[in-house]
Amino acid sequence: MEVTVKAGGLDKEAVDAIILFLNEGDDVSQGMAGMIDKAVDGAITTLLRDGEFSGKVRQLSVLHAHGRLKARKIVLAGLGKAEALTRDSLRQAAGRAATYARSLQVSALATTGVGAESVQLSPAETAQVIVEGMLLALYRFDKFKTEANERHDVVALTLVASKREQVKALQQGARIGQVLAESANFARTLVNHPSNEMTPSILAEQARQMAKECDLKCEVLERKDMEKLGMGLLLGVAQGSDQPPKFIVLEHRGGKRTQGNILFVGKGITFDSGGISIKPAEGMERMKYDMSGGAAVIGALRAAALLKLPQNVVGLIPATENLPSGKATKPGDVHRAMNGKTAEVVNTDAEGRLILGDALAYAARYKPIACVDLATLTGACVVALGHEAIGMMGNTQGEALMDRLQRAGVLAGERVWQLPLWDEYLEYVKSDVADVKNVGMGRAGGAIAGAAFLVKFVDGYPWVHLDIAGTAWADRDQPYKTKGGTGVGVRLLTQMLLDWSA
Ligand code: BES
Ligand code: MN
Ligand code: ZN
Repeated sequence: MEVTVKAGGLDKEAVDAIILFLNEGDDVSQGMAGMIDKAVDGAITTLLRDGEFSGKVRQLSVLHAHGRLKARKIVLAGLGKAEALTRDSLRQAAGRAATYARSLQVSALATTGVGAESVQLSPAETAQVIVEGMLLALYRFDKFKTEANERHDVVALTLVASKREQVKALQQGARIGQVLAESANFARTLVNHPSNEMTPSILAEQARQMAKECDLKCEVLERKDMEKLGMGLLLGVAQGSDQPPKFIVLEHRGGKRTQGNILFVGKGITFDSGGISIKPAEGMERMKYDMSGGAAVIGALRAAALLKLPQNVVGLIPATENLPSGKATKPGDVHRAMNGKTAEVVNTDAEGRLILGDALAYAARYKPIACVDLATLTGACVVALGHEAIGMMGNTQGEALMDRLQRAGVLAGERVWQLPLWDEYLEYVKSDVADVKNVGMGRAGGAIAGAAFLVKFVDGYPWVHLDIAGTAWADRDQPYKTKGGTGVGVRLLTQMLLDWSA
């Protein structure tokens, strides 16, 4: 998608459609809206007067310009009450408007920053979320559909600033929005691929290619490297699969050496059958999404690189399949992690925490000033929070980091919700035979038991665990979250980095 920012008037844009965002009760005799309304002989005023359109949230209308504007159509998009406008409500309105325009066969779009300059959002923020919402909403994954279709794509978006002095801010915002959305879309594509087309090797290759294009450092550890390092938990999960495991390391060196490293760790199970503790057939196809944490980390590193963020960010993605076979690890097996700790595998379906255990132990060599892991870790987190919040847990050192994530989550529309990780929970994962076991106390506090296992492998650095099991996949189309992988975490992590560096 080509995104352009310029100064001028929307009436001068020779595009298929211009989008006018309107709040409830907006005065359309003024500003950009007034100019357009006059050009079309008060057609907008008529719509408003007839009550056909009032600016309510979710409202959309289209008018045809009949040659009175350079643009062919005018799309009106409701924003609701001006005082209730948030980043996410604008992002959603922008997403709805964009898909609506696409359904009207629009290829080139133009819009303003919000006409009625909102009090809550700066011009740069406005541009960011409009671009973000539109690019996220217009995402489609149809690589495996070979039959001819009449699908139509929006290919160009122009943001028009009414004041010349705003162009720079809009440009900066739009650039951030574009990088965030495209990085999330990149992650969504990784997730949406079926597991036969997104093996650990393919995932590593995708990361390597992206790293090359974005000027990131990328290193991929092979099975023999993992053996040398003693990553017994990761190797234990991988032993049931014919696909070789990969441990992907991405590095963005944007800061000074003295700034320290921010670590992102993502679960990269390219397919989770459950292993010997096999899952029921119903819904198992979804488990191609079990590398969503890994995809989010790859996407966030892409964004950090393209935005040239002034930080040192390291991404770690342990990647493997979890399959049953004659070589697969079995319930009751004990494996040793690279930090020497032993884990009893009571249930081979609790594989995410095993591979993350080794990754968190590996992270220690970077002496993280912050470490965030993302994982589709537990069904229990979906039970607890549904699909609206990421489950967040952390150690005491990670409290400030949790605050950062909380704030970034609200801005990104990827909200986190903290669950406790009190010492009492550590009891849940005590094993009779090893240092720790990979299941908790039955169904009690399942999401927390996952984190209680992980904390065993965190070497005293500030650490936060994000359980994205409920948020990494959308079962239905939402304003900017189309069915399928959501890319959750990419915008959250990048927004946190942006705010941290500001
Ligand atoms: N990838 C799953 C988590 C999951 C399960 C996400 C269902 C969405 C829906 C994870 O590897 C897993 O299987 N977790 C088990 C852990 C249990 C065996 C302790 C779970 O949640 O059932
Ligand atoms: Mn599992
Ligand atoms: Zn899993």
